[in-house]
Amino acid sequence: MPIETSRTPHTRTASYLAEKGEVSRVLLLYSGGLDTSVMLKWIQDEYDAEVVALTVNLGQPGEDYDVVRGKALQLGAVAAEVVDAREEFATDFILPAIKANAIYGLAYPLFTALGRPLIAKLAVEYALRHGCDTVAHGCTGKGNDQVRIEATVATLAPSLKVIAPVRGWQMGREEEIAYAREHGIPIKGGAETTPYSIDDNLWGRSSEGKWIEDLGHAPDDDVFQLVTRPEQAPDEPETVAISFVQGLPTAIDGEELGLVELITRCQDLGIKHGVGIVDHIEDRIVGLKVRDIYEVPAATLILSAHAELERLVGTIHQNQFKGELDRKWAYLVYAGLWWEPLRSDLDAYMNEVNRQVTGTIGIKLFKGHARVVTRESPNAVYDMQLATFETSGGLFSQQASPGFIELWSLQSRLAHQLRDRDGPGA
Ligand code: ARG
Repeated sequence: MPIETSRTPHTRTASYLAEKGEVSRVLLLYSGGLDTSVMLKWIQDEYDAEVVALTVNLGQPGEDYDVVRGKALQLGAVAAEVVDAREEFATDFILPAIKANAIYGLAYPLFTALGRPLIAKLAVEYALRHGCDTVAHGCTGKGNDQVRIEATVATLAPSLKVIAPVRGWQMGREEEIAYAREHGIPIKGGAETTPYSIDDNLWGRSSEGKWIEDLGHAPDDDVFQLVTRPEQAPDEPETVAISFVQGLPTAIDGEELGLVELITRCQDLGIKHGVGIVDHIEDRIVGLKVRDIYEVPAATLILSAHAELERLVGTIHQNQFKGELDRKWAYLVYAGLWWEPLRSDLDAYMNEVNRQVTGTIGIKLFKGHARVVTRESPNAVYDMQLATFETSGGLFSQQASPGFIELWSLQSRLAHQLRDRDGPGA
């Protein structure tokens, strides 16, 4: 039976959604792309409302914010704000993610999931400052981003309403382009003509859509707009040393850098050596499985170095336990619950563990690979004297090992004998 796709009548499905009469001034999260540009006009016409545009710089490469601002004003925004939030993003969002080794589904370093609560928090701040009653965003009804943004707005400002026009306006890409032409909305050559849906910031870049949805289709080269394809990366390897102080990355090859600058340097190194390409099937919160192509050069370097150093300074018990909490942290953030108290409870634990995470990790970069090659820390739970084969006696007596083995294996040996006694299949 065909799945029902016909238009459904409008019903209010959440208390925070705005009804028509309630909207008079809207804070629009504006990227300058096709969706949000069409939206800027559409909201004015559809709701007879004023629009304040807000564009947030989280370090997306190659963006001209003067152009974006100008375009918003040209399309009738009563005000157009651009906020450089890179420092806040790095310090308050990426750093906790580093301390939590934050990866979702074995490969996704959460750059979008980390960016959305900050973008939505700024939307709330600017909405209140400009006397807006409603926040508008350009997310579709099929993704995680709507959850992250709306959960944030509803949490931080229960008085604000939300509209998400893309979810309801039933315009496909072609109709949007037609609408844009009709309403004099400039369509820039670049972004709108690439077939992919892109999201990017300091911590990574994602591509979705088109052939990516065909699981049997190996990546076309044109999807990689950030990272050099490994086959074209330099023939000479390069080793980089990343230093941490209490979990915070502080220096590259001995040179002290602020976090934004350090991330950018790691990004450049990864880009050069083809590091950080991920082809990922992801379980979204809204039920769907989706394939994403990620380019995450900086996150790959920094997260591998951090995880390695953390393991070196942690005991076997800490190391086994931390992974479980790391996974929980990543899932909360992925699932749009940045403001959930459990996340900050977990942060307290992450910070405590990271008090020991000081030292330097060397990583060798070569044609798409990043491999840890050196480790050094004043807090390493490692004693070279004990680890070498030659020594015996002192703190680690090899003579004592058989006694340990006998006790260590006691229950397993007894249980094994019981099974033998009862015969196969018992
Ligand atoms: N699948 C990733 C996530 O849910 C990336 C989403 C990218 N967002 C976008 N609007 N293109 O976090």
